[in-house]
Amino acid sequence: GGTAVVVVAAGSGTRLGLGIPKALVPLGGRPLLAHALDGVIASGVATRIVVVLPPGDTELVGVCAGYAPAHPIHTVTGGASRTASVRAGLDAAGPGIDHVLVHDAARCLTPGWVFSGVVEALRAGADAVVPAVPVVDTIKSVVASASPRIGPEIVAGTHERSTLRAVQTPQGFRLGRLLAAHAEASTWEADRAVSVTDDAALMEAVGETVYVVPGAPESLKITTRIDLLLAETLVSNGYE
Ligand code: CTP
Ligand code: MG
Repeated sequence: GGTAVVVVAAGSGTRLGLGIPKALVPLGGRPLLAHALDGVIASGVATRIVVVLPPGDTELVGVCAGYAPAHPIHTVTGGASRTASVRAGLDAAGPGIDHVLVHDAARCLTPGWVFSGVVEALRAGADAVVPAVPVVDTIKSVVASASPRIGPEIVAGTHERSTLRAVQTPQGFRLGRLLAAHAEASTWEADRAVSVTDDAALMEAVGETVYVVPGAPESLKITTRIDLLLAETLVSNGYE
């Protein structure tokens, strides 16, 4: 069966604060989405590429159209949350697809070998796979302080760093399993205070085993201006 790659690019880029959708923000003179699609295509893993775009967009549709006819890209409109956008992309995965990779357009410098590593684990039998890198910071949980005059938060605990990983995209799944997890999650997500920030969390919530493969340091998620500065430096040093 085939492998679909769903690139979610329907976010507004609020934290970047440039007044245009993040996927359209230029990096080395080209939109973030173009860099992301170059990585997907270079990996050679996709039998079908689906890009999820903001409602009313015309410019990003144009970026996608530029890859035809060699690499036709299917575009669909996203939703209000990342999860809703992923669902729209999964609905467009098409027939004959066994595996799906869900990738953030905001991770626009992910190298092809990360895509290949995720697909290898799927072919070896995994139903869920995430690329990840070791965490460099010490990570602590916090709770509200009883003395806000001194400070708003206090430390509740410290996590053993050697067991922690920073998880990236593309995240790979057996399509049927991910669809089932999304369907189950839609029945309870409205009741949960926590936000679902990745697809693997939905698989974890329904008891699936999620395998971890190596991620890449240059596969950073562009979220704030400082990330964009770092990405510009990476691009001007040959990272593509
Ligand atoms: N995304 C999406 N649909 C949404 C929200 C996010 O497709 N409704 C995508 C973004 O385009 C991005 C990825 O999910 O590729 C990760 O989201 P994030 O980094 O939060 O991007 P934005 O939501 O655009 O940024 P912000 O939260 O600062 O507005
Ligand atoms: Mg967001």
